[in-house]
Amino acid sequence: MAAIAVREVSKHFGSFTALDRVSIDFPDGGFYALLGPSGSGKTTLLRIIAGFEFPDSGHVTVDREPVESVPVEKRDVGMMFQNYALFPNMTVFDNVAFGLTVRHLASDEIRRRVGEVLELVRLTGLEGRKPHQLSGGQKQRVALARAIVIEPRVMLLDEPLSALDKALRVEMQVELRRIQREVGITTIFVTHDQEEALTLSDRIGMLRDGALVQEGAPGEIYERPSSVFAATFLGDANIFQGTAEAGGLRLADGTLLAVSDNAGAAQSQLAVRPEKMWLQRSDDTPAEGTNVIEAQVSQHIFAGSSVTYLLDWQDQTLKVFAQNRGEGVLPLGERVRICWSPAHSVPVEP
Ligand SMILES: Nc1ncnc2c1ncn2[C@@H]1O[C@H](COP(=O)(O)OP(=O)(O)OP(=O)(O)O)[C@@H](O)[C@H]1O
Ligand SMILES: [Mg+2]
Repeated sequence: MAAIAVREVSKHFGSFTALDRVSIDFPDGGFYALLGPSGSGKTTLLRIIAGFEFPDSGHVTVDREPVESVPVEKRDVGMMFQNYALFPNMTVFDNVAFGLTVRHLASDEIRRRVGEVLELVRLTGLEGRKPHQLSGGQKQRVALARAIVIEPRVMLLDEPLSALDKALRVEMQVELRRIQREVGITTIFVTHDQEEALTLSDRIGMLRDGALVQEGAPGEIYERPSSVFAATFLGDANIFQGTAEAGGLRLADGTLLAVSDNAGAAQSQLAVRPEKMWLQRSDDTPAEGTNVIEAQVSQHIFAGSSVTYLLDWQDQTLKVFAQNRGEGVLPLGERVRICWSPAHSVPVEP
């Protein structure tokens, strides 16, 4: 159990800024997802937290102690690297056992724990294989087993489940969360899978070009993205441009899009999530107090339980997500109204 604090951490590689004054508190026993585009600094941050890399400025503490003050072998950090970093000449068993062997555990204790964790990652029976005899997903699970087996206080997982098929990934997500909860391991994991970040984590941090752009609980960050980037990187969003004024956003054509929560600074962009919108035929009376714009259906993507509509509106394509309530799919070319509540107009920074 450990609380990790990252304070004003910057890291440069030559003239390139990989991390730019990043500060994050990782709560004790929490499950924290780091999200961000490729090259945004996620791995670099994990490596600095693990103490494998040193920041140029700023510092990292684990339970208030600077990471570098604790020798590597005493750090009690289970790390899973993006490239797995398995020992090529060692068997699956020895790869997983490594962290226990260096801690001088008794051999029957090692056998028991390795056996348990291999069962957990569904690799029982492959103990004798070498990494080159494994598939990508199997190697990934060996790396995960190696991080878990030492029952660390801190787990740093770099895309731990990316190589697994959907069914196995969901199974491993459940297991990961269970272990993490049972043992109360402070876990930081990197993922490109938005749904994984939203469903698994207690908190999410979003990195962009080495800077932390937003942080919060999954619900907060999804419902109240602070920027166009955050709104479109995590989930889908329709973005409207205009001029901020009291009560909302004035579009170029004169329409006022109402905003109910004007607490944020006045922004000249609004984000609206596709599932917050609904479509109405043009001859229906619009509901009182909703935002309404006229658009034309240009595509519909039928996915069984839902339909995603793409609509032409001015020079933009908007997206509206509709549950399949058995009312049929609106035909292409149909002129419709897109409606949404002012509560779901989220002012966002550019
Ligand atoms: N040792 C290094 N020397 C020079 N540049 C580096 C080094 N390590 C990382 N970088 C650069 O720093 C930036 C951040 O890299 P990092 O690996 O942290 O990204 P990431 O967010 O993990 O990306 P991905 O999602 O692709 O794994 C990248 O532009 C990368 O090229
Ligand atoms: Mg990376």
